[in-house]
Amino acid sequence: MLINVTGFFRDPDAWETLKTEILPQILERKRNGAPIRVWSAGCSTGEEAYRLVMVLAEMLGWEEFRARVKIYATDMDEPALAEARSASYGEKSIETIPPHLLKRYFEQVGGRYVFRPELRRCAIFGRNNLALDAPISHLDLRVRRNTLMYFNADAQNRILARFHFALNPGGILFLGRAEMLLTRSSVFTPVDLPSRIFTKVPKTSLRERLMLASEGEVRTANENKEVEPHGKLPLHEAALDAVPVAHESLEAAYEELHSTSEELETTNEELRRRTDELNRVSGYMASILASMQTGVVVLDNDLRVQLWSDRVEELWGVRPGEAEGEAFFELDIGLPLDRLRGPVRGCLDGKQSEEIVVEATNRRGRAFQCRVSCAQLLDAKTELQGIIILMEEWQIPERAP
Ligand SMILES: C[S@@+](CC[C@H](N)C(=O)[O-])C[C@H]1O[C@@H](n2cnc3c(N)ncnc32)[C@H](O)[C@@H]1O
Repeated sequence: MLINVTGFFRDPDAWETLKTEILPQILERKRNGAPIRVWSAGCSTGEEAYRLVMVLAEMLGWEEFRARVKIYATDMDEPALAEARSASYGEKSIETIPPHLLKRYFEQVGGRYVFRPELRRCAIFGRNNLALDAPISHLDLRVRRNTLMYFNADAQNRILARFHFALNPGGILFLGRAEMLLTRSSVFTPVDLPSRIFTKVPKTSLRERLMLASEGEVRTANENKEVEPHGKLPLHEAALDAVPVAHESLEAAYEELHSTSEELETTNEELRRRTDELNRVSGYMASILASMQTGVVVLDNDLRVQLWSDRVEELWGVRPGEAEGEAFFELDIGLPLDRLRGPVRGCLDGKQSEEIVVEATNRRGRAFQCRVSCAQLLDAKTELQGIIILMEEWQIPERAP
């Protein structure tokens, strides 16, 4: 049975310790601008992952956050993951979020609060069963709150061994308040026990163990000079000493391979989902454009054609493939493009929209009045991305008798 209880601001004190004492150390270690990798394991409906986004984005600034931070968020419960991806929360869920963060990180859509899409993309949601699947590796922070407690001691130990491998040196493990068993672990040591924040105890590598073995060889040789006439620890002893370590290293390499493929799978799953979403939106756009009687042209800021709808092709006889990418004002169509320079310039200079009616000739040679409207194309930050031009046949309204 999966228990999904979660929340944005559970255990505020522990999160405060993470924010004020632990994360600054991680950022200091990574002050060379290296990527920062975080895993929210057992993320349920996503609140914990989005909380991590908020904490790190506040510390780094949005731009740097987007460039450097990857938050993997996994669970084995697919419906919970679907909710997490939708990033849409009701009144009850958001009531613990401080108002300034709510305002900065959520958009209100139809009575729900939706996490901002531009930051949402830094969280990659995927399925991962902690008992069976390989962990995501090279982590700076692993948040695994209120999930470990559902496993028995044996399973916890196995999972902890994998967590150890998955963390970078100095990496941090952040557990839930009720998760005590770890204090007995030999592979993690508490950094802040009340907040259940731990760091990994480094294990010696094969190279270090071999060095130690060979140093031991020399030392033992000196100590045993009396009894060992050749003054040397037999090489096979050093080699035997290294065998379990070699085995360990092979296991680590194997784990690493698994982990990489697991991470790739999670990323692929996310990519597939986003491609599906993109295809759906493109299909949606295409059918809206196809059903409009108005022709639509989109120009970028250099006034090159980005979109040329089928209706525009019908009007002027130029196919989208011929127009897209071309300089708009150099096209040869039956619309007197020079007349559009003023309105387009007006929009580039800050006017929201402009409209004119011009004499034009369609692809069949028929003269008609064409109403052309130009409008600014703005992105979510209201920055100008280009110009939208709408074209349609203009019927002079009949006068009332
Ligand atoms: C109580 S919630 C914790 C949510 C969040 N970490 C928090 O502290 O707010 C426990 C989550 O662990 C997940 N879980 C349980 N067993 C799991 C397993 N073997 N692998 C992955 N996720 C598991 C459940 O689906 C559930 O979403």
